Amino acid sequence: MAIPVPEKRIADFEELGFGMFIHWGLYSQLGKGEWAQCHEQIPAEEYQKLKDTFTASRFDGRKIAKLAKDSGAKYITLTTRHHEGFSLYDTKGLNTYDAPHSPAGRDLIRDFVDGCNAEGIIPFFYHTTLDWYHPDFDRDFKSYLQYLRDSVEILCTEYGRIGGLWFDGNWWKPNDDWEEDALYGVIRKHQPDAIIVNNTGLGARGAIGNLQLDSVTYEQGRPEPMDREGMPKYLAAEMCETMNAHWGYAAKDVNCKSLAQLIETLCACRKLGANYLLNVGPDAEGEITPLQSALMLGIGDWIRMTGNCIYKAKPCGVKGLNHSKNFALRDGNKMYFFIHDLSISGNSNVTVDCGGAGEKTFSGVPAGIKSLKWVDREEDLEYRYEDGTFVMNATGFPYGTNLVVRVAEAELS
Ligand code: GLC
Repeated sequence: MAIPVPEKRIADFEELGFGMFIHWGLYSQLGKGEWAQCHEQIPAEEYQKLKDTFTASRFDGRKIAKLAKDSGAKYITLTTRHHEGFSLYDTKGLNTYDAPHSPAGRDLIRDFVDGCNAEGIIPFFYHTTLDWYHPDFDRDFKSYLQYLRDSVEILCTEYGRIGGLWFDGNWWKPNDDWEEDALYGVIRKHQPDAIIVNNTGLGARGAIGNLQLDSVTYEQGRPEPMDREGMPKYLAAEMCETMNAHWGYAAKDVNCKSLAQLIETLCACRKLGANYLLNVGPDAEGEITPLQSALMLGIGDWIRMTGNCIYKAKPCGVKGLNHSKNFALRDGNKMYFFIHDLSISGNSNVTVDCGGAGEKTFSGVPAGIKSLKWVDREEDLEYRYEDGTFVMNATGFPYGTNLVVRVAEAELS
């Protein structure tokens, strides 16, 4: 059976490669993550008072989009409404639990989209499906679903062309009929080229759902190889992950992943052709913290130093043999080898050991490689074919550098 050909929007989505996820809402004022209302059982009337102190005084869509761009992210997925039920957009009278009716006094999604458009970043809208605010969610589910569709229709008609909609929350009521066809129908009607995602959550990573969906999700995990043979349509894959352990701002969660981990994770996603959607949680006023900004920018530096090859190059069946993290991607007659855990060459008295240089072996490399060099510096690398195995001599990082994952570019005839 054949692997279906991806529709254009899905092929384009796969080439975005890296995105910035943003969780921001009323909860950001509490600084304890986006689930605080639920975990701390804060009574609704009390929680809703957070609207009266929500000023968004430092939320700047342009600045955020610029950060994403400098970080090498091609898209941003922002929580237009999270489980708390508060909308960052103007709900046009559906209710008053939205940003224009708060001290912020403005449509923050408009600001976000304008900023993205100005910086060439594609805006995606996260939208909750479960709702801790709307009374109909538990009282009259059908009427709630109409409210959800009306909300999504606003997002699809007010902000020009958007990259996609990212839903989250169906797992809260797994046995109910979410009338998904009707919801996705609203999107297809107004935004035929939008990517539609519905997060299957921690318990069902990679699960395949409604036929209108364009990508599977791997929340806080690692993408797994997908067998696309015989699928009714080609699906993309996206792995979303927090930088610390919370999506929404958590002032006291300093347990951030290291830049090295983030770079390796980006590579682990691209190894399988999956996108990496990395989250930041802006603070109460809408500012991304210096630590999270710095980590994002570090990824951007790495992407540039490795020749921007992560976007277009695709998995091509090449496997690292003597180091399982190593792999290769291919873009036309260029093949990119991703080499992990290299050491820094030089005097062992002054460098910290971080692995080894030397021979790296691969299977699945086609014959006819004409040249091989590091992307980060002009240095031809030795290589040979040995009984169907491709062997390259990976030299260590020159003293003064360490890119975590180093990329060698091969030219194929
Ligand atoms: C989970 C959480 C949610 C978060 C989402 C992101 O489903 O409920 O807070 O927005 O994951 O993937």
